[in-house]
Amino acid sequence: MPRTPFIAGNWKMNTTKAQALDLARGIARGIPSGGVQVGVAPPFVYIDAVVQASRGSNLLVGAQDCYFEKFGAFTGEIAVEQLKDIGATFCLTGHSERRHVLRESPDLVGRKAHAVYEGGMTLIHCVGEKLDERDSGKAQKVVEQQLEELDPSKIDDPSRLVIAYEPVWAIGTGRTATDDQAQEMHLFIRDMLERRWNTNFANAVRIQYGGSMKPENAKGLLKRNDVDGGLIGGAALKAESFLAIVNAAL
Ligand code: PGA
Repeated sequence: MPRTPFIAGNWKMNTTKAQALDLARGIARGIPSGGVQVGVAPPFVYIDAVVQASRGSNLLVGAQDCYFEKFGAFTGEIAVEQLKDIGATFCLTGHSERRHVLRESPDLVGRKAHAVYEGGMTLIHCVGEKLDERDSGKAQKVVEQQLEELDPSKIDDPSRLVIAYEPVWAIGTGRTATDDQAQEMHLFIRDMLERRWNTNFANAVRIQYGGSMKPENAKGLLKRNDVDGGLIGGAALKAESFLAIVNAAL
């Protein structure tokens, strides 16, 4: 079974409500009729409105983060149940900005990832090394540890697990991993999925690349064997550039 590519836009802490709705409508109108899955992760406060605005289209709407507890006294946090309640179908965990700017620990990231999966949503688990880690030859070790946040005995549906490989040095910097660097790490990730789960599971999981992916470099990255989509930040904030990346996946 070939893997259907998944292109997801991570809007981060961007857009007003009006801009979010405009962007979602523009993307929803331009989604090709098949061959690629397309999703956007707006800021929490606009998810509901974006879900409403994209009704009847193939646009998936997700969240950038969540909390692992179900309900309760967790001021400021958002539960998986609440995300599902308003129509979000996927959720990121372990984005590098959560890990390195908001200082989330591997333990917290892992708990969130399992809450997303166990709640029935699609999990996009983000992994990726920092520049000093790449330069000192530790990139694979770092990615391996971040993948170990996921427990194979608790995650058994490969269609609801997506790994996003996002080298931190490529995020928002304009500096993209080369096609070869991406493919090499994606293959390493797939081998590790195979070791920890099994061959069929590993072959079915989509592995997205993220980090300054844009229309000009998307085709080269997406045609590599183990690159099954993209997690897009900056270039996801304009329907035109995001859709150009979506079309590059076909
Ligand atoms: P970028 O962000 O495309 O702006 O580099 C990617 C991401 O952080 O998901």
